[in-house]
Amino acid sequence: MAGHQKTETRHSVLSLMVMLLAALTVPLAAQSPEVFSLTTPDGPVGTRWNSSVTLPCELSPLLNAEPLEVRWYRPDNYNTHAFLYKDHNIQKESMDIQYRDRASLAGGLERGNVSLRLERITLEDRGEYVCQVTSKQWYEKASVFLTVNVTGNEPVLSVADGGGGQVHVTCSSEGWSPQPILTWKNKQGTEITNGVEVQKNMDSQGLVSVSSWLLYSPSDSDWISCTVSLSEENLEGRILPRVPTQENWRSAFITILIINVLVVFVVIGLFFWNKKTEFLTFKKNPNTNDETESKGDPTEITTLVKDEEDNNQDSDRGTVQITPVSKMLGRHQYGQ
Ligand SMILES: *[C@@H]1O[C@H](CO)[C@@H](O)[C@H](O)[C@H]1NC(C)=O
Ligand SMILES: *[C@@H]1O[C@H](CO)[C@@H](O)[C@H](O)[C@H]1NC(C)=O
Ligand SMILES: *[C@@H]1O[C@H](CO)[C@@H](O)[C@H](O)[C@H]1NC(C)=O
Repeated sequence: MAGHQKTETRHSVLSLMVMLLAALTVPLAAQSPEVFSLTTPDGPVGTRWNSSVTLPCELSPLLNAEPLEVRWYRPDNYNTHAFLYKDHNIQKESMDIQYRDRASLAGGLERGNVSLRLERITLEDRGEYVCQVTSKQWYEKASVFLTVNVTGNEPVLSVADGGGGQVHVTCSSEGWSPQPILTWKNKQGTEITNGVEVQKNMDSQGLVSVSSWLLYSPSDSDWISCTVSLSEENLEGRILPRVPTQENWRSAFITILIINVLVVFVVIGLFFWNKKTEFLTFKKNPNTNDETESKGDPTEITTLVKDEEDNNQDSDRGTVQITPVSKMLGRHQYGQ
């Protein structure tokens, strides 16, 4: 009987303690649920150079983040903030100069959205970012990885004699990030993979240059293409895989010679045609005839000069071309 009594008391003490604990915890939890986590994308976030991007980071559950502190920084630089929101304000002066004018919150802070917006992306923006949210009782952090794609230059193609009736075709393009894919295709659009070598180099800025070459048996008019691509971005170059031979040079020389001869003929032809039109204008002009001018009669010349002055007044009649010639002639003779 006594034993039974004892267990009952133990029971009531225990339940009392549970109730007490519950009474203490519940108001605290209602005031601010101190436990939250952050959700960021699993894979990297990609953007293109000189564009903008949002680095997603959300509270879970989606609490109001306005009373909290939101800090975005690079993992190797906790004290240099890409972004800092604290005491209900954006702390611009605490932000890294590199980000100050380019970083903002994407919006929806009150809905637990602490995503970071970055404008005018540079190559240096690549890499990891830490999103950290701190409340009075709790803090959580998560990483977002940013990749920046840079489209390089148009591929440059060249050909050289590869020996054995083959040509050695080279294709190269610089300034890509990350590594682009280089593909060769023939005119029919079939990818050429046989004997293709691709070389990649990264410069100090992290930009990749690719170059590739292949040996190709040329058929008369078939070009081949070299495409360098990064997802949707791709640049293509085409070339006729033919080496300039001696015969090609000779025909090129002959072509140039023929063109030169033609040019000379055209120039001569134009010269004569010009002379002819000049002569015709001479004939058409009623105020000028060879007789008057050769005679050298002062009165005649005076009338001629006078007439010419009349002509000059309505010079838009189209005879202006000849006027200065006869005028010179007239004056000269008058002076004699
Ligand atoms: C960047 O390039 C990668 C290929 O390396 C591609 O998968 C990704 O979609 C590209 N991102 C953008 C934003 O263009
Ligand atoms: C970067 O983008 C802006 C606006 O989109 C454009 O005006 C500017 O010319 C771009 N800069 C370069 C170097 O392409
Ligand atoms: C948070 O903001 C980003 C950018 O505006 C948006 O893409 C995302 O859907 C938002 N998330 C939520 C839960 O509203």
